[in-house]
Amino acid sequence: MTQNISHNLLNGKKGLIFGALDERSIAWHVALACKREGASFALTNAPIALRFGALDQLAKVTGSQVISCDVSDYEQVANLVDTVVDNDGKLDFILHAVGMSPNIRKGNDYTKLNYKLLQQTLEISAISLHKVLQACVEKDALNDGASIVALSYIGAQRIFSKYSDMNDAKALLESIARNFGSRLGGKGIRVNTVSQGPTKTSAGSGIGGFDAMYDFAEKLSPLGNPTAEECADYCVSLFSDLTRKVTMQNLFHDGGFSTNGISEELVFDLAELSASKNK
Ligand SMILES: NC(=O)c1ccc[n+]([C@@H]2O[C@H](COP(=O)([O-])OP(=O)(O)OC[C@H]3O[C@@H](n4cnc5c(N)ncnc54)[C@H](O)[C@@H]3O)[C@@H](O)[C@H]2O)c1
Repeated sequence: MTQNISHNLLNGKKGLIFGALDERSIAWHVALACKREGASFALTNAPIALRFGALDQLAKVTGSQVISCDVSDYEQVANLVDTVVDNDGKLDFILHAVGMSPNIRKGNDYTKLNYKLLQQTLEISAISLHKVLQACVEKDALNDGASIVALSYIGAQRIFSKYSDMNDAKALLESIARNFGSRLGGKGIRVNTVSQGPTKTSAGSGIGGFDAMYDFAEKLSPLGNPTAEECADYCVSLFSDLTRKVTMQNLFHDGGFSTNGISEELVFDLAELSASKNK
């Protein structure tokens, strides 16, 4: 359950949040948690998401401005950064919660990728982080000590067959975060990725076999799968001054999934399965 108590961890901080589409979105909950902790921020999403999503509702609740931006287009990203800084001044935090694979949407297997679509997957899901940070550097848009968090998935390290070219996109995303973290540290600016466990959102549910992956992770993780609200609280801690020496990390927020080999529950399930096969 989300804690509704504010710890004022982000009092006076200003941010920019990418990727809130509807109430299930992880970014939606990050926005609510940032508001609770005293931050102000702008919300942004692709033009089509603004048309069909529910971002206006979130903007109302959080008192935020909504700015349209397709993250694959550098000019739009640069304009977005200009607008945000002109309106509210330099940024203290950014959430990058953007991901999409047209190959997955079309059901293309990893051995039969459409390369034009692969380019789109990489542009939207990974290179967009580079574009955002390059625009911020170019426009001197980040305050000293700012914190950038991009959401990733364990497909960057281990292959999840149904995650197809998103495995590659997340590996690239994490590398871009490290590269910028290395270059921005002189100003105390942190860049990290949070590798979230499976969460029932629009992007998550769009992946074939998602329910099976969700159940498997739930059974393997000692703490169970993390919710979007729990992810939001973790992101708040990374935006806060309590984590000012954490940078260039891929931080697993997955209930222990990434480190556990097998659980009692899975051993039991597999034993039952093989017993029923041997009957
Ligand atoms: N849901 C999960 O299981 C899970 C697990 C680990 C990591 N993540 C990551 O968390 C992030 C947020 O995903 P989510 O699960 O909240 O789903 P979501 O569908 O709510 O969020 C994805 C967002 O990306 C936006 N987007 C897509 N193309 C865009 C473009 N061209 N320009 C701007 N925005 C664009 C969508 O409009 C949407 O708001 C993604 O990076 C996703 O890969 C999700």
